[in-house]
Amino acid sequence: MADPSGVRARLWDGSTRIVHWALVVLVAFAWWSAEAGKMDWHRLSGYAVVGLLAFRLIWGFAGSASARFASFVRGPAATLAYLRSLPGRAHADMPGHNPLGAWSVLALLAVLIAQVVTGLFAVDIDAIEAGPLSDRVSFDTGRLLAKWHHWSFSALQVLVVLHLAAVVFYRVHKRANLVRAMITGRQDFAQDPKLTFAPLWRALVVAAVAAAVAWWTAKGFRP
Ligand code: HEM
Ligand code: HEM
Repeated sequence: MADPSGVRARLWDGSTRIVHWALVVLVAFAWWSAEAGKMDWHRLSGYAVVGLLAFRLIWGFAGSASARFASFVRGPAATLAYLRSLPGRAHADMPGHNPLGAWSVLALLAVLIAQVVTGLFAVDIDAIEAGPLSDRVSFDTGRLLAKWHHWSFSALQVLVVLHLAAVVFYRVHKRANLVRAMITGRQDFAQDPKLTFAPLWRALVVAAVAAAVAWWTAKGFRP
């Protein structure tokens, strides 16, 4: 809840928010299309996820302060200290992901990367549906990667459930509305954290690079 003496300041830039909500929609669509057997759509949504991941990874080094990995990834000591403060109702006035949330962000990104990489090599049992790199490996390896593709999806489902549970925990126990911040980009702070934000031109350059990565991946890295 807003601290009456505090300020509402900008936290997440537009790029981070667009990438987040686009991931939500596209991962859901990739799931649905795979279940419905619409594999052309499945691969297309997968390539779009490749582009979003490429953007987010570059943005983690070249983006706005709150999106940079160096600004939120903390070691075990800081994470443990944060864990100990979890039962309390006080919500740490942190301009970005907390040390525990940071690990869940990295885990989500890592599993999403595993999801798309295994998909690129996967082949189905009758070798009809396949990722664009499946011809670079044997059929057995393609089948093994299809199995890993299923496993990583199970891991992703577990992480997303934990992710949503964390959001509800913060809403109910800590009275912090993280979802509103991920939608509007603004959060309440005791004091303005005075974060720096990357300019739009940089987001456009990174988006162009990410789109090229997705395009090239869809072509199986062939010229
Ligand atoms: C976030 C991205 C992705 C998600 C959530 C996802 C999810 C899934 C799921 C749940 C299945 C199993 C469907 C079933 O058998 O019931 C599947 C199968 C498959 N996916 Fe993906 N996938 C993603 C990305 C990709 C990508 C990028 C490719 C390749 C371009 C790909 C290629 C395949 C193939 C070939 C299968 C069939 C494998 C088999 O029949 O064993 N997927 N995917
Ligand atoms: C497929 C489903 C989802 C995936 C893969 C996912 C992934 C992520 C990732 C990677 C981040 C880090 C953002 C960044 O720094 O770029 C994040 C943050 C966040 N997500 Fe999700 N998310 C999913 C679903 C959702 C849903 C459905 C909600 C809301 C109901 C949600 C709410 C949030 C919030 C509030 C944050 C910011 C947490 C904080 O303040 O530290 N997510 N999510």
